[in-house]
Amino acid sequence: MIRLFVAVALPNPVAESLVLLQGGVPGARWSTREQLHLTLRFIGEVDGREAAAIDDALATIRAPRFTLELKGVGEFGRKNPRALWVGVRDGAPLIHLQRKVESAMQRVGLPPEERKFSPHVTLARLKGSPRDRVITFLSSHALYASAPFEVVSFVLYSSTLRPNGSLYRPEREYALE
Ligand code: 2AM
Repeated sequence: MIRLFVAVALPNPVAESLVLLQGGVPGARWSTREQLHLTLRFIGEVDGREAAAIDDALATIRAPRFTLELKGVGEFGRKNPRALWVGVRDGAPLIHLQRKVESAMQRVGLPPEERKFSPHVTLARLKGSPRDRVITFLSSHALYASAPFEVVSFVLYSSTLRPNGSLYRPEREYALE
């Protein structure tokens, strides 16, 4: 079995600008450069046959390239914050691609994604982080914006659980038009 997800990879200068934001929150496990990505679709554990069908379905997707800009920071978890993330400026082209990925995944028989798509790049997972430090982090980086970058492909990643965090590996890349 292999654990898979579909995501947009980040160019080096953008990922580096995210790494510069990291720090100042006790209890945060910061995403490494290799872990930073923008998830389009979480797939979960599949066998080799399903993985091949998923790869075939993703390869049939036709969608245009687009410009993306990361912007702003946020948290998941409210009272008990569990993650810090960076958002996107204009989600429309990304949502278009996400819908195509979603319908491709349903065509191969995966159950529909029930979570509403909220485009984000996870910066850190939090455990027992003091609320005031989270608020300070969010207010200090509220104005973060990346340089605009071209999204020319999307990627099928595998994820392996390791004691010191997940190892994400790009398995296949699919070009946009
Ligand atoms: P996250 O970073 O917001 O937690 C690999 O695990 C990627 O898939 C991560 O980006 C993670 O999103 C996302 N992910 C993990 N489990 C998920 C789930 N059950 N539903 C949706 N996305 C998930």
